[in-house]
Amino acid sequence: MALTLDINGKALAVEATPDMPLLWVLRDGLSLTGTKYGCGVGQCGACTVLADGAPVRSCQTPASTLAGVKILTIEGLGGSHPLQQAWAKHDVPQCGYCQSGQIMSATALLAKTPRPTDADIDAAMDGNICRCGTYQRIRAAIKDAAGLTPAENA
Ligand code: FES
Ligand code: FES
Repeated sequence: MALTLDINGKALAVEATPDMPLLWVLRDGLSLTGTKYGCGVGQCGACTVLADGAPVRSCQTPASTLAGVKILTIEGLGGSHPLQQAWAKHDVPQCGYCQSGQIMSATALLAKTPRPTDADIDAAMDGNICRCGTYQRIRAAIKDAAGLTPAENA
């Protein structure tokens, strides 16, 4: 079926079967490969994108359900988003595989909660697994992007 999706502010036409996950459409149909395939079963968060501002697992979300929804992927942050700058400053990634999903969840968090507490960060980032264990640096980068010192709002 022919679909038109609103991705990163552009209306993009794609062909997809009705049950095709958004992740496949992004990566294979549109060559937006910043969104990663991790577990494929909704457990790791590597494939996280935002749908109308809310984090969704693109491996579990049929693209056909997203007509009229504003989809934001890591490419839509443009490379110099405050979170991306903080990620670079704190040298967050190790292998890097989980990190676009981490940044997308953090983007949704700061849009809703500009000065998050540690508990807010824990709750928002809970579903994003990092097998390299970069969690401390992720927390530091989120706080930095929010203009908080490491001890503030702990
Ligand atoms: Fe989607 Fe793991 S690849 S949650
Ligand atoms: Fe390797 Fe997170 S940086 S999985």
